[in-house]
Amino acid sequence: MRIIQVHSYDDLSRDAADMVMLQISRKPWSLCVFPTGQTPRGLFCELVHAHHTGLADFSRVRFVSLDEYAGIAHDDRRCLSLWLGRELLQPLGISEDRIYTFDAASTDPGAESARIEKVIADCGGIDLAIVGLGPNGHVGFNEPGSAFDCRTRLVALARESIRSNTAYWGSEADVPRFAFTLGLGTLLDSRTLILMASGSHKAGILSRMIKGPVTPAVPATVLRLHPEGIVIADREAMSFCHYR
Ligand code: GLP
Repeated sequence: MRIIQVHSYDDLSRDAADMVMLQISRKPWSLCVFPTGQTPRGLFCELVHAHHTGLADFSRVRFVSLDEYAGIAHDDRRCLSLWLGRELLQPLGISEDRIYTFDAASTDPGAESARIEKVIADCGGIDLAIVGLGPNGHVGFNEPGSAFDCRTRLVALARESIRSNTAYWGSEADVPRFAFTLGLGTLLDSRTLILMASGSHKAGILSRMIKGPVTPAVPATVLRLHPEGIVIADREAMSFCHYR
C-alpha cells in the first residue's frame, strides 16, 4: 500500500483529481467508483472544473455505485445516487446509460446485489475505486466484522455509522438502518483502490488503518492487501501516524 501525505484538503482534492484524470486518459471507458460524504466534495469540484475547462474528457467514463441506503424511495432526499448525480455525474455530463446504481427501493436485496456484481463483471471489472474512511473504519458500508472476501450485499448499519451519518440528514431517526454496499472482496478486485482521508477527526482511525493489525475489525485495512492500494491523506488526518 502506498501512502501519500499532502499538506491540506485542497491538495488532497487536487491530487486525487489528478489520479482520476490520469486513469481516464489511459482508459477513457474506465469503470469508476466514487464515495459520497464530505471528504470527496473538493475532488468533485476539481473534476467538474476539469470537465468545464476541457482539461479532461469524461464522455466515455462509466460509473457504478459504492453504496446506497436501502428501503427508501428512488426520489428520497437521502438517496446517495441522487447525491452523486447532483454533485458529480450530472455536472460531468455522464449519461444515464453509463451510470449503474443500486435500486434503493428493491424488495429483493439478494437479486439486487447480484445484479450489481454482474454489471461490474460485464463491464470487465472496476478500474478505479475511490473510497472514504468511516469513523469506525468502514469502507462503503462494510462495517467492522465484514470479511475481506465479502461481496456486494445488504447490510445493517453499525451504531457508529448511524450516528456519523446524522451529519448528512439531521437526526438519527432520519438515517436509514440498512444499506447496499459493494463488498470488500468486490473492492479488492478493483485494478486501483484509493482511500481518501481528511481532518483530525480521522487521525485515530487512519492510524489504526495504516499501523494496526490487518483485521476485519477495521475494514479499511483491506487496502493493505491490495497491490495497487493507495491512501491519500492530509496532514491533519495523518497526525497520529508520524509518517515521513
Ligand atoms: C459514509 C459512507 C462512506 C463514506 C464515509 C466517510 O458513511 N458510507 O462511503 O466514505 O462514511 O464519510 P465522510 O467523508 O463524510 O467522512
